[in-house]
Amino acid sequence: MVRRGTFIVFEGCDRGGKTTQCKKLVEALNKKNIPAEYMNFPDRTTAVGKIINDYLKKNIELPDHAVHLLFSANRWELEPVIRKKLHSGVSLVVDRYSYSGVAFSAAKENMDLQWCWNQEEGLPAPDAVFILNLSESASLQRGGFGEERYELTDFQAKVRSNYKLLKDPKIWKDIDADRDVESVHNEILKLFEEVHSQAVSQPIKTLKN
Ligand code: TMP
Repeated sequence: MVRRGTFIVFEGCDRGGKTTQCKKLVEALNKKNIPAEYMNFPDRTTAVGKIINDYLKKNIELPDHAVHLLFSANRWELEPVIRKKLHSGVSLVVDRYSYSGVAFSAAKENMDLQWCWNQEEGLPAPDAVFILNLSESASLQRGGFGEERYELTDFQAKVRSNYKLLKDPKIWKDIDADRDVESVHNEILKLFEEVHSQAVSQPIKTLKN
């Protein structure tokens, strides 16, 4: 019987090094002959993802609820792919997932956190969420924000406090992202190995209310 892959999600505010760490983890796992692939949300290459990209680049305006549903639909578009890969034994290292979806949308005025979460219910649940915590001071040292929507200090502060509301202690692993890339990577690799040894023999769980 093929042992299923492990599903890891990376979350955290911008500039914490999520993408760098995701890619380093995939590379390290493949070197150890553990099949693993990188995925990221939003996936801007799909039909829905193209609209999201236009929204993030500020080419179009959309109501907040509609945008939330698009981000969620983007995950639902790839839900069969996620399940198929995990069942075939490939571990997935996913750069942002439902937690970003809820933390960012609920940081807007008049957006209810529970309503946001409801759209995620039924998606495959990760075996672990690695949250890269970057302090305000380290964040300032890493240079300015880009030009995309949401890249604003006050907005990111709200996102940070929303993440705390979503924290599930059973699967959430806090990681100090103020350190150098290699130290963070070594901790992540150790954490992955712990999670992987348990996950492969368990069924894939789903996100619940
Ligand atoms: P990226 O910089 O990782 O490509 O993400 C693009 C932006 O989209 C980032 O500011 C976080 C935000 N976002 C949401 O608002 N909802 C979501 O569901 C996801 C995955 C990202």
